[in-house]
Amino acid sequence: MDKKTILLKINNEEHSITTYPNRTLLEILRDDLCLTGTKESCGEGVCGACTVLLDGLPVRSCILLVTETEGKEITTIEGLSGSEKLDPIQESFIEHHAIQCGFCSPGMILTAYSLLKNNPNPDEEEIRHAISGNICRCTGYAKIVEAVKAMSTEGS
Ligand code: FES
Ligand code: FES
Repeated sequence: MDKKTILLKINNEEHSITTYPNRTLLEILRDDLCLTGTKESCGEGVCGACTVLLDGLPVRSCILLVTETEGKEITTIEGLSGSEKLDPIQESFIEHHAIQCGFCSPGMILTAYSLLKNNPNPDEEEIRHAISGNICRCTGYAKIVEAVKAMSTEGS
């Protein structure tokens, strides 16, 4: 298999990557670009730990070929905050104790961020539906739901 050069737009920065076209977006993010905020757990599209946003929508980067993301806007957890300031959704997760070991948190937070962009006032059912593809083994989900609900336009 021949290598291919592809252009990626990640967190508003352009990257030219020469790589084998059968590599996943997750491998490129973590191994080539050191964007290790994106986590790998199951590696087969089940747990949501590797979630990033592609044109604003959550996708599982462990089952997405990097070639499929060319020309699209990729957002990782590193792109959500400025250099010194966390995004309000990240602050809300901290404030509501919605982070324990933190392994699911990057994917969970990006999923919540995307939900709130598209639906600024989700009810509990909509929040639970949105995060249903993101597995958390620590929190029991109640705190996560509270953190997202607090960010809705009407708050909790
Ligand atoms: S690591 Fe990608 S879905 Fe689990
Ligand atoms: S905080 Fe540990 S898996 Fe979610």
